[in-house]
Amino acid sequence: MTVKQKRRRVVFISGTSSGIGKACAIDLARHGYRVFAGVRSEAAGYRLTARMPQQITPIELDITKAGDIRAAAASIDRLLGQGEGLDVIVNNAGITVPGAVECVALEDVRRQLEVNVIGHVALTQALLPLLRRTRGRIINIGSIMGRFVMPLSGPYAMSKFAMRAINDAWRRELRPWGIDVVLIEPGSVESAIWDKIDSEAAQYKGKLNAAARDRYANIEASLVATWKRAHRMAIPADTVARAIRRSIEKKRPKPHLFVGPDAHGLALVSRFLPDSCLDWMIGKITGR
Ligand SMILES: NC(=O)c1ccc[n+]([C@@H]2O[C@H](COP(=O)([O-])OP(=O)(O)OC[C@H]3O[C@@H](n4cnc5c(N)ncnc54)[C@H](OP(=O)(O)O)[C@@H]3O)[C@@H](O)[C@H]2O)c1
Repeated sequence: MTVKQKRRRVVFISGTSSGIGKACAIDLARHGYRVFAGVRSEAAGYRLTARMPQQITPIELDITKAGDIRAAAASIDRLLGQGEGLDVIVNNAGITVPGAVECVALEDVRRQLEVNVIGHVALTQALLPLLRRTRGRIINIGSIMGRFVMPLSGPYAMSKFAMRAINDAWRRELRPWGIDVVLIEPGSVESAIWDKIDSEAAQYKGKLNAAARDRYANIEASLVATWKRAHRMAIPADTVARAIRRSIEKKRPKPHLFVGPDAHGLALVSRFLPDSCLDWMIGKITGR
């Protein structure tokens, strides 16, 4: 008598070269999943999969490039084999463009939205046929900044508010097919993103004229201390990876999941305090 082997669940994650995406790829691979890991370079793919080549397959993919997305969907389909489906898509890749909305270069606002918003829509459209085969699940990585906006974080917050809208639209649209959609909303998480913010901030400042630089100099000085505090309080990326796995494995997942004490705190204040009160508190922080 042959014993039927249990099918390994299959997940695709974008942005797995570092941080939350990398932690999630490793965590799911360790828990028996077959992981297709989106990376932007061969070297990043090699670094990620070297220890777990049987469990993790790198897929080279920049989510802002239509050709990459088409090729990624085709190669996942081919690697899965006839009729096999994808169980989970984790839309994780992201960048942070800092700056005052008055001054930030429009090309940088577009870049922010191309990666954090349009890229995820395009990739999910391409992978949905594979997800439908299993009535799979979509996990979107949002942020508490998709509810609570700090000054000089407007472009990033825009992208995460949009992610929340997309998440809710997909959850309601895909319900008839049994596809669950979950938004993970972390607070501060330890990852490569913090160093990248420093270089993005330097780039932003390099593009400002002297008047614009002076206008926001005080706010910026007071916010730097707040950002540093947030970074010191950051939770490990593994904690978010475990929350993602729980959302994948729960029979009825919560549609929104806050991760980290700051995410829970800010979710509460943004829900219950009036805007006038929040504006006053933020004014205190920024010295206005
Ligand atoms: N860290 C936090 O405090 C925090 C809090 C809330 C939410 N989040 C969200 O969590 C997600 C992961 O961020 P993280 O903190 O783990 O940062 P991270 O370590 O910088 O990881 C970001 C990942 O996205 C990839 N990526 C960037 N642009 C891409 C593109 N055009 N196409 C494909 N991949 C691209 C990066 O690849 P490269 O290495 O090739 O650039 C990297 O693998 C983001 O959506 C972020 O907004 C982070």
